[in-house]
Amino acid sequence: MSVQTLNVVVQKRQEQGEGVVVLDLADPNGQPLPAFEAGAHVDIHLQPGLIRQYSLCGDPANPRVYRVGVLKDPSSRGGSVAVHERLVEGQAVQISTPRNLFPLVADAQRSILVGGGIGVTPMVAMAYALHARGSEFQLHYCARSRSLCGFIEELQQAAFSPRVSTHFDDEEPSQKLDLETVLGSPGEGVHVYVCGPGGFMDWVIGEAIEAGHASDHIHREYFQVAVDNSGQSFEVVAARSGKSVQVLEGQSILAALAGVGITIEISCEQGVCGTCLCDVLEGEPDHRDVYLTDDEKAANDQILVCCSRAKSKKLVLDI
Ligand code: FES
Repeated sequence: MSVQTLNVVVQKRQEQGEGVVVLDLADPNGQPLPAFEAGAHVDIHLQPGLIRQYSLCGDPANPRVYRVGVLKDPSSRGGSVAVHERLVEGQAVQISTPRNLFPLVADAQRSILVGGGIGVTPMVAMAYALHARGSEFQLHYCARSRSLCGFIEELQQAAFSPRVSTHFDDEEPSQKLDLETVLGSPGEGVHVYVCGPGGFMDWVIGEAIEAGHASDHIHREYFQVAVDNSGQSFEVVAARSGKSVQVLEGQSILAALAGVGITIEISCEQGVCGTCLCDVLEGEPDHRDVYLTDDEKAANDQILVCCSRAKSKKLVLDI
């Protein structure tokens, strides 16, 4: 699967809250960009070998701008710092075309959007889309402090602002998120969407399951996931060179291949971005990523070698 790229420029840069930068990316010649759906993200190529994924948080009805919001995280592996330091207005940058792994359910009767911190970004685009459809929804934006947040002004001024609630840890207890009430009673057409830090997502998902929401009505987007390399060893064959290597328990396919001199382009190393995608010629993958869709996983003809393993004793890859 090849990922198409686009050349864009930073048309506008705004600092919002402490540590959040909001960038509007546009075609250098003012042409419309490919359409995107709420929930989609783009890969931003920050430098060779440094590609990061950011949710599109603008209005999907505006094809002239891709808006992203990036929190500066000094403990990150370089992506957010590079965005903050390098992506100034006028800067050219290469991005992928949008890909949506977190789509809205088209026929939902009610959508409950819960965003934690910078995890609100896909929810902002979802709110625009749901409002445009005339759908019933509520957006809950939770954060440690108002001063740390982007998008507050935009959400207050949006036509759908009555559907937005904010919840801050350092403000009045009465405004804190009451999940039990927000999740309410589950129903056939009720869908819950959550994005944010891992602990926050676990809390929301756990409460939603507890409240009786069906797991396929709880939609989630991770921006960081733990990689699990446990499992039996297996053989990987690189078909183009004929090289073969044993992938040991606790080792990634990526690391095993590097040991025999085969390097694969990588970015997140967590099964999130899709950069290390390889075609499978033989064998059955044990998919452990959050990038491929369920259908793509079921096809078993592609694998993300940074995190996935094999169910079969041997995997032959088209590399
Ligand atoms: S490097 Fe991102 S999915 Fe493997």
